[in-house]
Amino acid sequence: MQRFLRPAGMVGALLALAGCAADAELDTLTPKGPDARTIDALSDPVFLVAGVVFIIIFGGTGYLWWRFRDDHSDEEYPEQVHGNFRLEILWTIIPTVILVVIGVFTIITLTDLNRYEDNAMALSVDGDTTTWEPEVVVVGQQWWWEYRYYFGGTEGLDLSDARHLPPADIVTANQLVIPVGQEIELKMSSRDVIHSHWIPALNGKRDVVPGRTTYWKLEAEEPGVYFGQCTEFCGLSHSRMRMQAVALSPADFQAWVDQQVQPAAEPTDPAAIAGMAIFESQCARCHVIDGVNDETKGADLIANAAPNLTHLMSRTTYAGGIFNLYEPDGSLDRTQLEAWLRNAPAEKPAYAEGRRGMPAMGLGETEIDDVVAYLETLGTRPSMDVIVATEVE
Ligand code: CUA
Repeated sequence: MQRFLRPAGMVGALLALAGCAADAELDTLTPKGPDARTIDALSDPVFLVAGVVFIIIFGGTGYLWWRFRDDHSDEEYPEQVHGNFRLEILWTIIPTVILVVIGVFTIITLTDLNRYEDNAMALSVDGDTTTWEPEVVVVGQQWWWEYRYYFGGTEGLDLSDARHLPPADIVTANQLVIPVGQEIELKMSSRDVIHSHWIPALNGKRDVVPGRTTYWKLEAEEPGVYFGQCTEFCGLSHSRMRMQAVALSPADFQAWVDQQVQPAAEPTDPAAIAGMAIFESQCARCHVIDGVNDETKGADLIANAAPNLTHLMSRTTYAGGIFNLYEPDGSLDRTQLEAWLRNAPAEKPAYAEGRRGMPAMGLGETEIDDVVAYLETLGTRPSMDVIVATEVE
């Protein structure tokens, strides 16, 4: 017995410890919003019941295995039993009752999660005060997330084709910025394959399907950064399709909106001006910068096939939320950004035929420096708090 106990204990401890991490970004057990709490309130008791069942079943099996083992001490068999009507009824009824109870609470939870609040908040958009029912249009694509804000509401807008969505007030990528304490309705679709939106501290997963709009919601109780990950296998860089929800106080959210609705500023520095010209001749085929090549400029775009870069510097991650734009001291991570511009597929795997993902642009070193100089003019750098809190490994 002794020689089994020690290895069994070690394997058990190893398995238990492997599940431990103080700073697990995708921890489902620490809800930070009402929807995640609704899920937690169901999964905790279910896990407890499952644990008790596990102990009884495996304890009982282990006991029987040990109690009736063949130790060669005699040749007598224990009493042979064939069927026990009462026992069989009992072990049918008990699991049925357990599953029915869990089923009822599951249906209640699902109903709660699919009920949407009528909430509204006052917001100033470009000088005009409007009432916004917080909602964000989400587009999943290989391999990043687009977030579109329509402050006039999406009623009456045709959102059925994720490749041709109506112009939005704000378009951003990989970082979903939300006001704290408000239920945010997500209207989600995909440009290509099925993805799944999952920010575990705020709510569970919901699939994002091409040609269809799926609805979901998020609410954060406190300002902070909540990490997420695409959770439907969607191709080569599925694991590199991350996102964050950045929850801001109402005042900070208003300040963010004020910045984001501005078009890009005209560059003045010679390198940045040269970088803008490179953007227009090379990058503008897929990327949009408001005021440079947006819909109002009549450009023929594969619009939104790549992140809108108007306020790139106000974000802290790029390439599907896998690289930090800033160093921990707040300075631009130039080395990584240049490597990305030099040969993106080497930094983040994309399909060989180059249909999706950022291609290698074949830029020279001076051109890369110019493009970086231009990109640096796009948007306001966030606070050190945000840079530190959003840092990805
Ligand atoms: Cu998108 Cu996995």
